[in-house]
Amino acid sequence: MAVKYTDLGLVNTRDMFKKAMAGGYAIPAYNFNNLEQLQAIIIGCTESKSPVILQVSSGARKYANQTLLRYLAMGAVEMMKEMGKGIIPIALHLDHGDTFELCKSCIDSGFSSVMIDGSHHNFEDNVKVTKQVVEYAHERDVTVEGELGVLAGIEDEVSSEVSHYTKPDEVEEFVTKTGVDSLAISIGTSHGAYKFKVKPGEEVPPLRFDILDEVERRIPGFPIVLHGASSVIPAYVEMINKYGGKMEDAAGVPESQLRRAAASAVCKINIDSDGRLAVTAIIRKVFAENPKEFDPRKYLGPARDELIKMIKHKNENVLGSAGKA
Ligand code: G3H
Ligand code: 13P
Ligand code: ZN
Repeated sequence: MAVKYTDLGLVNTRDMFKKAMAGGYAIPAYNFNNLEQLQAIIIGCTESKSPVILQVSSGARKYANQTLLRYLAMGAVEMMKEMGKGIIPIALHLDHGDTFELCKSCIDSGFSSVMIDGSHHNFEDNVKVTKQVVEYAHERDVTVEGELGVLAGIEDEVSSEVSHYTKPDEVEEFVTKTGVDSLAISIGTSHGAYKFKVKPGEEVPPLRFDILDEVERRIPGFPIVLHGASSVIPAYVEMINKYGGKMEDAAGVPESQLRRAAASAVCKINIDSDGRLAVTAIIRKVFAENPKEFDPRKYLGPARDELIKMIKHKNENVLGSAGKA
């Protein structure tokens, strides 16, 4: 039997994006795969009074089990209420859905928002599959994110060696023909921890704000999504390398550029890698300093605490979503 997201206490992204557009900030979309990540997202966002999008990739769905995920999301809403620190809007979103069937299955199991990533198709086929998902989703008041342009890096089943920037002259036709609620574009970000090839001390190249500006001109007031938006926080990379890791050439999007994006039509900023780095850095540190430790709570707990700190920092100082719930 189909589960309706409203019965789980979740909301879709429509109202979140409307307010973010008007207020010049972006909603954080944090990926999660396990209990500790989910706890950190809910605690970090409730304490900073930020709306939040809980983001699940198809890999995460396989890893965590889709039925368990639904109950986790429902539990997350209840936990937020019980914290007694105010109510925040929470959306449950499928990240990089690659087929209509996957999107449908998520909608039927309680997701309030889905991404159909047809960016690996040609324009016509992308329009076709996106429109099909929109029709099914909108009948159930679920919001849909589409994508035009390709990001380099691994996107679950959808992978690419090189990026192709979004062509601004395609966006109007795409959003009109498909009816999507938001659009992910490619302006120079990529997934993972190795976004730019730079030598030590060199600055990373700026994002293509000229493309973003042109997209905004073509579809004024339309919510734009930025994938691959982790900063690859240098302190975590240093900690990982210090405690036995090997991530020498990791580089991400500087916070100043994300602030600029958040103030524009970018209404949703996707963050996965920074959360992975925070968790890995702390776990490595705990093990290096306490080689006898074997209680998972003793390393997952501190990792979760660090994740809460990171999420609050992003909401308060980068995305501007803190206090907007
Ligand atoms: O866009 C990709 C996300 O970071 C999800 O990554 O497919 O390894 O869960 P994943
Ligand atoms: P990062 O790898 O930069 O965190 O990007 C995550 C993302 O775009 C998820 O869809
Ligand atoms: Zn992505």
